[in-house]
Amino acid sequence: MKKTPFVALLMAAFVSFGVYAQELTRELPTPVKTGGKPLMEVISARKSDRSYSTRSLDAQTLSNLLYAAWGFSHDGKRTIPTSQNKQDLSVYAVMADGVWKYNAGENALEMVADKDVRPLFETQDFVKGVPLILVYVGTDVKNSPLHAGSAYQNVGLYAASVGLNNVVRGYFDRNAAAKALQLSPNEQVIISQVVGWPESAH
Ligand SMILES: Cc1cc2nc3c(=O)[nH]c(=O)nc-3n(C[C@H](O)[C@H](O)[C@H](O)COP(=O)(O)O)c2cc1C
Repeated sequence: MKKTPFVALLMAAFVSFGVYAQELTRELPTPVKTGGKPLMEVISARKSDRSYSTRSLDAQTLSNLLYAAWGFSHDGKRTIPTSQNKQDLSVYAVMADGVWKYNAGENALEMVADKDVRPLFETQDFVKGVPLILVYVGTDVKNSPLHAGSAYQNVGLYAASVGLNNVVRGYFDRNAAAKALQLSPNEQVIISQVVGWPESAH
C-alpha cells in the first residue's frame, strides 16, 4: 500500500498510542509460587531492617512480593483473608518511575502518576533512596486496616525468605500521600511499608 501522508500520520498515531498505553500498564512476570525457605525459619527471620541499597527490585521479585501481599490464590480469593471476602484493600507501589496500583487480576501495575513521590515518605533518614514503598489503602474503616496488616505480614515473610529488608511505616503524612496516590475521598491511606535489598547488596 502506498503511504499517503494521511496513512503515515495515522500509523504514527497508533504507534505512539501503543507506547503510551504500554506505559500506563506494566505487565508483571507470573509470580513464582514454589520454593522459598521453610515457614518456621521465615517466621523466625522476619524483622524490620533500616539499612537499604538503592538497587531497584527486579520485576520477578516485585511480582512475587505483590502476589504475597494481595494476589489471587484460590477461587477468586486472596493470599490473605478479608472480611466477608469483600476484599477491601488496594496496594500501591511507589517507585522512582512513578506511583503504580497493583492489579492482581491482570498481574500488572497500573500507572497512577509518572512522578517520583518517594520524598513524601522520607520522614526518616533510612527511607531515602529505598526502591519500593508499598502503600496500603482501603475504604472500610474497621476492616481495611486488618487486611493491610495481613498483607504487610505476608510481604515481611516473603522478604525474610529471599533476603530483602522491609519496615512497616506509619510515620508519614497520610494527606500528602493520599494526594500523590490520587485517592477518592472515601479511600484512606492505612500504612506504608518500605522494601529493598540490604545496604551491603549494591
Ligand atoms: C503499624 C506499625 C507502624 C510502624 N511504623 C514505623 C515507622 O513509622 N517507622 C519505623 O521505623 N518503624 C515502624 N514500625 C516498625 C516497628 O518499629 C517494628 O516492627 C518494631 O520495632 C518491632 O521490630 P521488628 O519488626 O523487627 O520485630 C511500625 C510497625 C507497625 C506494625
